[in-house]
Amino acid sequence: MRIGVLTGGGDSPGTNVALRALVLRAAKRDHQVVAFLDGWKGVLNGEFRELVPTDVRELIAVGGTIIGSSRTNPFNTEGGPELCIRQLREAKVDALITIGGDDTNGVAHRLAEHGVKVVGIPQTIDNDLGATDYSVGFHSALHTVTEALDRLRTTGHSHHRVMVCEIMGRDSGWLTLFGGLAGGADIILLPEEHFDIDTVCAELKRLHQEGADYSIVAVAEGAVPQELAGQVVEEEERDAFGHVRLGGIGKWLAQEIEKRTGLETRDVTLGHLQRGGPPTAAERVLATRMGIKAVGLCESGQFDMMVVVRGLEIGAVPMTEALQQNRMVPPELVHLNELLG
Ligand code: F6P
Repeated sequence: MRIGVLTGGGDSPGTNVALRALVLRAAKRDHQVVAFLDGWKGVLNGEFRELVPTDVRELIAVGGTIIGSSRTNPFNTEGGPELCIRQLREAKVDALITIGGDDTNGVAHRLAEHGVKVVGIPQTIDNDLGATDYSVGFHSALHTVTEALDRLRTTGHSHHRVMVCEIMGRDSGWLTLFGGLAGGADIILLPEEHFDIDTVCAELKRLHQEGADYSIVAVAEGAVPQELAGQVVEEEERDAFGHVRLGGIGKWLAQEIEKRTGLETRDVTLGHLQRGGPPTAAERVLATRMGIKAVGLCESGQFDMMVVVRGLEIGAVPMTEALQQNRMVPPELVHLNELLG
């Protein structure tokens, strides 16, 4: 069969690895793979190229995506869905594998309702897709966040400062929670529950009075202080999927902490550093297994499905199940860190 593939939305260190696995597996099974360039944009424009094993063999340790990504939304363009269907037909693809988050796979699902044969691979550092324990990209971003907090720890310690670190994740707090736990943060603030700045400051004062001579605060870019009307936004203009660009909560928080506690405070926004760099070992294994599974689903004619991992098992669920709502940190984990101090 002739399998199309695209990578859409925010990239991650595991995107290329999933691509590599599905191309190698497809070749082994005598299938052809054509890659649409820059996500759904490549489908709309009919821009694609064939991928063979020599194109991807080296990608095991390479972050990003060699076929490019975009946040293009065909459903936001007049006649976009019809054009996608026509272009896919002209490219003679029998099935399309989409590697991305809820936006990319959401488009795939809507096209599936028009008869397009799609299989999704979950890929987002936010880890907010439903029905899967992990999405490709999360492990690697988590490693980067942890390493960053380790570095903030030593300089924070030397200067006896409060170090505030702003972490990506949009409306979900997985990366901040896991990163904060792995990096030993004293305070972790997630989008899942609005926080009270007075409580945060009182907690920091207590820690410092009890002997801590520096501290670390991990705050999600989507975290909301009760004092403000909503999330802190860097860019109000919405992208094709209706998202504003978040950013600035770390700076706001650092200023408030210093003003209210008198503790010297600095802030760092990790930003796209979290999306770059090589994939971790766990990521490579996950992305490889998911890439192989996606080809298997195409072969067995199981479409409008998304690959998932649950425990050690790689499986698949209907796209609707994976996309029905953002996967948030459950209430019992939101305050996990507070059990420590
Ligand atoms: O969706 C992944 C993500 O990295 C979010 O965590 C973040 O808010 C957003 O993408 C940033 O998007 P962009 O690269 O378009 O600025």
